[in-house]
Amino acid sequence: MIITIDGPSGAGKSTVSRALAKILSYPYLDTGALYRAIAYKIKKDKSAVEDASYLSRLAESLNLKLEREGSTPRVILDDIDITDLLRTEEIGLLASRISALPIIREVLLPIQRNFGSLGSIIAEGRDMGSVVFSHADFKFFLTASLSERVRRRCKELRGAGLIPDPETVKKGMILRDRQDSERAVAPLRVPADARVFDSTDLTVDEVVTAMRMALKDPPSR
Ligand code: DC
Repeated sequence: MIITIDGPSGAGKSTVSRALAKILSYPYLDTGALYRAIAYKIKKDKSAVEDASYLSRLAESLNLKLEREGSTPRVILDDIDITDLLRTEEIGLLASRISALPIIREVLLPIQRNFGSLGSIIAEGRDMGSVVFSHADFKFFLTASLSERVRRRCKELRGAGLIPDPETVKKGMILRDRQDSERAVAPLRVPADARVFDSTDLTVDEVVTAMRMALKDPPSR
């Protein structure tokens, strides 16, 4: 069974996906982590998004793996576990920029589909239900108001020991929303057959419960 959860940044997709994956004992595919891993590599190599020949070499030689076990899948780049280095705002913004490039989306497509070909999964991202797993059994779209998404992201950053400036976080989020929704390839969209949940006034438990109810009622196709 393939369950997809798409939505804008800060809508609570990761928390909800992880919780649902744990309840159902399914592996969790965090596709944002793959885009972030490439952003991390570009930054580490001190290269630029505009350097087409670097990007084509990167696409040809990419050594990126996702370990399927556990509730937090590990991201392995060049045989090194970089999972814990990916959740910064800087890497998120760069990931959003590079995710508009067809060469990057193409190179990540087989990694994502391969993960889904091995059994049931919860797949989270921007184009899970619309492109990567368009045949998914259940598709969810999770959203929340901008101010609530900013509030949650600030809380998350404070939890990581940082002191976020809400205005800066808000600007970053607006920019990412725009980049992710306006790109030509696989933009953020509500898949036609997705169930939409607005989590602005809902707790994580309430969203998870609502999704579990929805899972008992398969879409008619
Ligand atoms: O979900 P996230 O914040 O970790 O994702 C980082 C960026 O990666 C996001 O701004 C856009 C891109 N992304 C994408 O284009 N398609 C996906 N399926 C997942 C993420």
